[in-house]
Amino acid sequence: MNKRIGILTGGGDCPGLNALIRAVVKSAINEHGWEAVGILDGFEGLLWPGRYTKLSYDDVSEILTTGGTILGSSNRINPFAVKEEKDGRVRITDRSGEVVRVIKRLGLDVLFVSGGDGTMTIASGINALGVPVIGMPKTIDNDLRGTDFTIGFDTAVTIASEAIDRLRTTAQSHHRVMVVEVMGRNAGWIALESGIASGADVVLIPEIPFSFESICKAIELRRRKGRLYTIVVAAEGARPLGEKPVVRREVKTSAEPIRLGGIGEVVTHEIESRTGIETRVTVLGHVQRGGTPTARDRNLATLFGIEAVRAAHDGKTGIYVALKGNKITRLPLRQAAQGIRRVPVNGLEVQAARAIGMRFGNE
Ligand code: F6P
Repeated sequence: MNKRIGILTGGGDCPGLNALIRAVVKSAINEHGWEAVGILDGFEGLLWPGRYTKLSYDDVSEILTTGGTILGSSNRINPFAVKEEKDGRVRITDRSGEVVRVIKRLGLDVLFVSGGDGTMTIASGINALGVPVIGMPKTIDNDLRGTDFTIGFDTAVTIASEAIDRLRTTAQSHHRVMVVEVMGRNAGWIALESGIASGADVVLIPEIPFSFESICKAIELRRRKGRLYTIVVAAEGARPLGEKPVVRREVKTSAEPIRLGGIGEVVTHEIESRTGIETRVTVLGHVQRGGTPTARDRNLATLFGIEAVRAAHDGKTGIYVALKGNKITRLPLRQAAQGIRRVPVNGLEVQAARAIGMRFGNE
């Protein structure tokens, strides 16, 4: 049967989204002769009229290697709880019914949604309202349940690892401590994997609360062994034991009201004042989400996109595609909305890191 499919990219952008859009649209057109419509700016595009564009084969040519998303994205609005501020008070409205009406008006048979846990939770809710939805995992944080990897993670780890490699030379030359703050609000995957890849000495992740004493002890121990510099990687959601993460900004009207950031600065200040060793901080921020995707992210995006179209062809909706081992599988969409996938504190990666002498600030 001829289908009209819609596709949107929700949440924070990441490298590999264009490869995913290309895979979905090309295989929908090539293999089934379906029609594709791109919804602009994530779920926001389904709340205002006219925020969509038809996608032809040519529209998705030449985008494989580009970062960002040609459709735009947004993490500001959850249609189930749209926030508006008036006279200093935040009003919350459920506008999910409007989203469903727009999808019907556009004549979409299936909605393809790429997102992390926030977007997938919305997608699952929209699916429960009767819209056939297929999810495709993306987020540099790699914290979506059910999948070993999400699109964007490999690029973010590659960027962070390269940045740490570059900071190491100055750390060595000047005998400094270099603190690198990377993204990761609730899960420390980027910090952990870039830390392992670049041979960082101390890695601070949200899953393992740390103490400043322990970090300083590790730095001083290295000094006594003649290693005059130390690399510390801190996820933005890392926090000292018994404390809350450092909040950079609050945006009351956003679906994600808290922006983290600043732990690198705090750690730097504490190390310098406790040890007297010159300590500098670098915050990688959105650099981790920008630019060309790695080959691995392009290929993962392509496999996810193709499998999502196959599922739609099989009449299987209310699912998301996921990587498990070496296989792309289909999982119930509601599973993606059941909380995030954190770093297991006694898992293989943490054990490997400890075995090669990395510290987590809780020793
Ligand atoms: O979820 C991806 C992510 O990059 C997080 O690591 C980070 O905390 C957040 O998005 C930042 O979002 P924004 O770009 O909206 O500030």
